[in-house]
Amino acid sequence: MQFFLDSANVAEIQAAWEGGLIAGVTTNPSLVAKEGKDFHGLLKVIAGIVDGPISAEVLDTTAEGMTIEARLLARLSPNIVIKLPVTADGLRVARTLAAETPPIRTNVTLVFTPMQALLAARAGASYVSPFVGRLDDIGQDGLGLVDDICRVFERHSLSCQVIAASIRHPVHALKAALLGAHFATLPYAVLRQLLRHPLTDAGIEKFMADWRAAGRHTENA
Ligand code: G3P
Repeated sequence: MQFFLDSANVAEIQAAWEGGLIAGVTTNPSLVAKEGKDFHGLLKVIAGIVDGPISAEVLDTTAEGMTIEARLLARLSPNIVIKLPVTADGLRVARTLAAETPPIRTNVTLVFTPMQALLAARAGASYVSPFVGRLDDIGQDGLGLVDDICRVFERHSLSCQVIAASIRHPVHALKAALLGAHFATLPYAVLRQLLRHPLTDAGIEKFMADWRAAGRHTENA
């Protein structure tokens, strides 16, 4: 499993990318709206930082409107992946974009059932995004959904990749990895949480203290 950052914040994206933590970025209209910046301009800035997939979501809900938006977004950078809702119109657009030369990659989002995911894969989606946390929020099993989708895709040898989304804490990320999700997209705070452990910090402090106690200096001091 690889990590994406679920954010439209340039400072977070730069820190996560330069820190070697992520393979790409996912955005959604809520995350972009929070930044208060021009959408296409922001995507260009992100594409200048990240050399990996950058999911950008369409705002129209009709197939015609989504197709126009998708083509404009795809022109911004070869790294742009078009995020489409799992609706009849969204899947129609996924099929159209997959058939273009060269194909435009799509990330079908707001997936809450395994059959939505299978339909998206069959329509030609490159990625599907099951929302783990939002299912948990209504008392359903978000990670169970990731498990079902991974098993269906594996069973039928589908190349569509699974992005575990709406990840709220490190256990969600661990379980998604164990279940075989190809990616997990994480808010910056959760990504940072994955890296930290109090015993790692305490271990570094103790090594340094022992070194100093023996009267040693670091070579580059
Ligand atoms: O970007 C899609 C997804 O990750 C949203 O997460 O926390 O708003 O449910 P959340």
